[in-house]
Amino acid sequence: MSVTEILQLMDQLVSKHTGNSLDDLQRRAILGILQHQTYSDIAEGINYDEEYIGKISRELYGIVSQELKELGQEVDVKKSNFATSIKKLINLGNHYLLQNINHIHGNLYVNNTQNSPQDSNNTQNNVKSAYRDLTFAPKVINFSNRETELQTLSNWIFNQNTPLISVLGLSGIGKTALVRRFIDLNLDSFEVIIWKNLQLTPSLNQIITEILTTVETPEKFLNSPVRQLLNLLKEKRCLIIIDDVQHIFTPGQFAGQYQAESKDYQKFFTAIAETEHQSNIILISQEKCADMQCLDDRLYPVKALELLGLDNINILDNTGLNNQDSWLKLIQLYQGNPTYLKDIASLIQDVYDGDGADSLAETSLVITQNMQSCFNDLFNRVSPIEQQIILEFSKLDRPMSREELKENLALSSVDFVKGLQSLQYRYIVTKFKSDKILFKLSPVFREYVKETKKPGF
Ligand SMILES: Nc1ncnc2c1ncn2[C@@H]1O[C@H](COP(=O)(O)OP(=O)(O)OP(=O)(O)O)[C@@H](O)[C@H]1O
Ligand SMILES: [Mg+2]
Repeated sequence: MSVTEILQLMDQLVSKHTGNSLDDLQRRAILGILQHQTYSDIAEGINYDEEYIGKISRELYGIVSQELKELGQEVDVKKSNFATSIKKLINLGNHYLLQNINHIHGNLYVNNTQNSPQDSNNTQNNVKSAYRDLTFAPKVINFSNRETELQTLSNWIFNQNTPLISVLGLSGIGKTALVRRFIDLNLDSFEVIIWKNLQLTPSLNQIITEILTTVETPEKFLNSPVRQLLNLLKEKRCLIIIDDVQHIFTPGQFAGQYQAESKDYQKFFTAIAETEHQSNIILISQEKCADMQCLDDRLYPVKALELLGLDNINILDNTGLNNQDSWLKLIQLYQGNPTYLKDIASLIQDVYDGDGADSLAETSLVITQNMQSCFNDLFNRVSPIEQQIILEFSKLDRPMSREELKENLALSSVDFVKGLQSLQYRYIVTKFKSDKILFKLSPVFREYVKETKKPGF
């Protein structure tokens, strides 16, 4: 379902429970929650108090909980399961609420379209009637570093005109932020910029239909929707972002396996890569799939940018931490992952009054509640074969060779190599060369496994 429909559904629910329509603040909170923003980020963006945004959000969760309860489902709705709870509500057949929804998709998109000041100069760049839908593209506050990655994207898009680009990496590493930053820097280079998120709208048909109903297309209704979209990509310089692509892959199997109902994406990605047009599609995913793999830079019209952590201490600027001498150590411990670092900075503020050195003197690697919940999801998502390899990895605090790893595992050679490849496709395991090839489990994830998965699991 689209963000328009979620907002309209929430409007109906809020009216039913409070007698008032959804107000602007509630609307902003919902958009922020759907974009995985923290309460503090939402509050900062609209100059409000973080606690107040939290309070408003909890009231909304309460309404959804109550509605689910009326349908016989006890769900503790919170920030992390808000979107899935709404989906559940709809799946449970609460259609009467949706029936009243006005399906003019365009209205809200146009209202939420964030046109930059540069848009007024668009005629200079031959960009007529620029259209932007960045509703799902979280704003980045204090973006830092990533100059090389931004340059790589520019080169692929503007010099090599690569039609299909993937930005890949672990959760929280900064994929979404990087692409949003790229857009902010290049707003006036595209006639159409659209950001879609597959967590909420996994259906390809729906995504294409939404695009076609909101953008002026040359030959509406004459062709199939996919053909119409390809025509649009040919006629206009478009940049389409598809975020959270991992949602179309199957949990419990090796990485990058399309779910049965998402197989049409595979054909769609191939068509984007192989058809002639002037546009670019960026896929953002925590999992790599074969269609994103570029085996030879010169031959393939697809490219993949795999993000590593940040290593500059300025990532900890504005986190309220003092004692800068400890920052580099913190960045190394948490692999430069901005989400882990934000999380740990907040813990150091609360417990050590912002002193990183004090925290390091007392404890080393702390797995916060947020990290634990994110790693639980990840561990439960990987295949049973990968789980076995992860548990084997977690026994030793050093990189291991293939042979060493396999020694104590009761896995066939084929299962073992596929599992090892899949863990690399999820960015949990990295391969590197010393005098021989070694593999390393992400140290933060390893600490989580050590703490939570006792032997015999
Ligand atoms: N270069 C950066 N400078 C400053 N903050 C950053 C940077 N990159 C990411 N962040 C911040 O780190 C957090 C996580 O980033 P982001 O949402 O882009 O991660 P992600 O890789 O898309 O994660 P997921 O796969 O879970 O969606 C956000 O709060 C974001 O603003
Ligand atoms: Mg993201």
